Amino acid sequence: MSRNEPSSNETIERQYEEYVMPIWKSLNVPIRRATDCTVEDFDGNEYLDVFSGISVTNVGHRNGAVADAATAQLDEFVHGCSYVHPNRPVAELAERLAEITPGDLRKSFFCNSGTEAVEGAIKLARKYTGSKEVVALEMGFHGRTLGSLALTGNHTYKHDMGPTINDAVHAPAPYRYRWPDETRSASEFAARSAAEIEHVIGTHTSDDLAAVVVEPIMGEGGIIVPPEGWLERVREITHDHGALLIVDEVQTGYGRTGAMFASEHVDVTPDILTQAKGIANGLPLGAFTAPPEIADAFDAGDHLSTFGGNPIACAAALATIDELQGGIVAETAEKGRWLSERLTELAADFDVVGETRGRGLMQGVELVDLSATGPRDAAPAPDKTLAAAVADELRERGIIMGVGGYYKNVLRFQPPLTISTEQLDRTLAALRTVLAEATDE
Ligand SMILES: Cc1ncc(COP(=O)(O)O)c(C=O)c1O
Repeated sequence: MSRNEPSSNETIERQYEEYVMPIWKSLNVPIRRATDCTVEDFDGNEYLDVFSGISVTNVGHRNGAVADAATAQLDEFVHGCSYVHPNRPVAELAERLAEITPGDLRKSFFCNSGTEAVEGAIKLARKYTGSKEVVALEMGFHGRTLGSLALTGNHTYKHDMGPTINDAVHAPAPYRYRWPDETRSASEFAARSAAEIEHVIGTHTSDDLAAVVVEPIMGEGGIIVPPEGWLERVREITHDHGALLIVDEVQTGYGRTGAMFASEHVDVTPDILTQAKGIANGLPLGAFTAPPEIADAFDAGDHLSTFGGNPIACAAALATIDELQGGIVAETAEKGRWLSERLTELAADFDVVGETRGRGLMQGVELVDLSATGPRDAAPAPDKTLAAAVADELRERGIIMGVGGYYKNVLRFQPPLTISTEQLDRTLAALRTVLAEATDE
C-alpha cells in the first residue's frame, strides 16, 4: 500500500495488532489529524481532546507558530548532534530556560523524553554529591526505562522487568484522601507526610543519599496535590541529609498548572528540575536544568545523547514558550479555578465522585465504589471499572478523557491549555449525563 493511500481505523488497528508490540491495546482512538483541541480519526469522526496525548500538546495540536518554527528549522538542517556541533536552537533554548525556570537554575542538558531527563538528573545528583541512594514516592511516576523505573512507585510497571537500579526506596505519597485515619489539619498533614520521607531515609538508606525525587503534583498517581508547606519541608529534609531535591516537572511544567512550573506555586527552587512532555508541544524533547554549581559537576564525556537537543524540537520549544508567555499560562490559571469549582459541584452531586482535585488544567476526578472500603479503610474503594466505563462512554459521545491514578480510577482533565470554557462546559455536561446513566444518581 502506498503511504499516501487513505487508511481506516480498522486498517490501522489491524496493523497495530500485527506489527506493534501489544501495549497499544489500552489506548484510544486512531488519529489521522489533530487541530487545537480536536482530534479526527480515519473514519471521519471528530473528538474533543481533553487529554492532549497524555498532557503534551499544551498550546494546542498543530499550533501554527510552533509548526512554523519547526518548519523553518527543517529548512536549515535537521541534525548535527547538539553535543558535537553547537547550534542556535539549543543555545537559545538553554538561555531561555535559564530565564523561565525558578531561582538560579541556569544550565540545561537536552535529551528526548521525560524518562531520560530523570535518569540524567540522577546521574548529575550522584556526581555532585558523591552519594548513591535515591528516595522517591510510592505511587510516583518517573518513567519506564530501568533507571527511572526504579523510582516509579508502582509495582504493576515492574513485573518481570527487574532488576532496576539499586539504591532507590520509596516513601508514602502525600495522598490525603487515602491516608488512613487522616483527621489532621492541612499543615499538620504536610508535616506528617513529609516526616515519612525522613523516616524512610532513616530506616531504608545508609544515609548515602544523592537525591529525593518528587513530582510537585503527582500526575500518573492520580493528580495528587500535596498540602501547602509539604514541598518546602521535603526540601529541608533533603538538604539536611546532604542530598539534592530533584523536582520532576515532566508533567506539571510548561503552563499545565497555571504557572510555567508548578514549583512556582510554592516558591520552592529545585536543585534539579526535569522537563519534557509540553516543552516542545509534541516534538520529542526532554531537559534537566540545574544551577551552575551543580551542573558543573558534570565533566566532559559524563553524559550524552545523539538525538538530544534536536534543533527542530528546540526551535519548536522556543515557539511553545513564546505562545505560553503570550497569555496562555495566565488563562490556564483562570480556567483551572473555574473548572475546579465545577468539579467540586460535581462531587457534591454524585456520591461515586470520592474527591476532585488539581491545579490549573490538571484536574482529577476520583471515582469510588461506595459498597466497599479501599486500602487500609481510608476511603471508599477505588472504582476502576466505572472509570473505564465512563471514559468509553465519553468517547462514544466524542470526548477523549484520560484515565489514570495508582488505582486506575481517576478521570484526568489535562486538555490542551487552549481549550475554551465552552468546550470544558460541554465535557462537564457530558460527564454529568454519563455518570447519571452509569449510577442512577
Ligand atoms: C512526572 C513524569 N516523569 C517522567 C515521565 C516519563 O516521561 P516519558 O514518557 O517522556 O519518558 C512522565 C510520563 O508520564 C511523568 O509524568
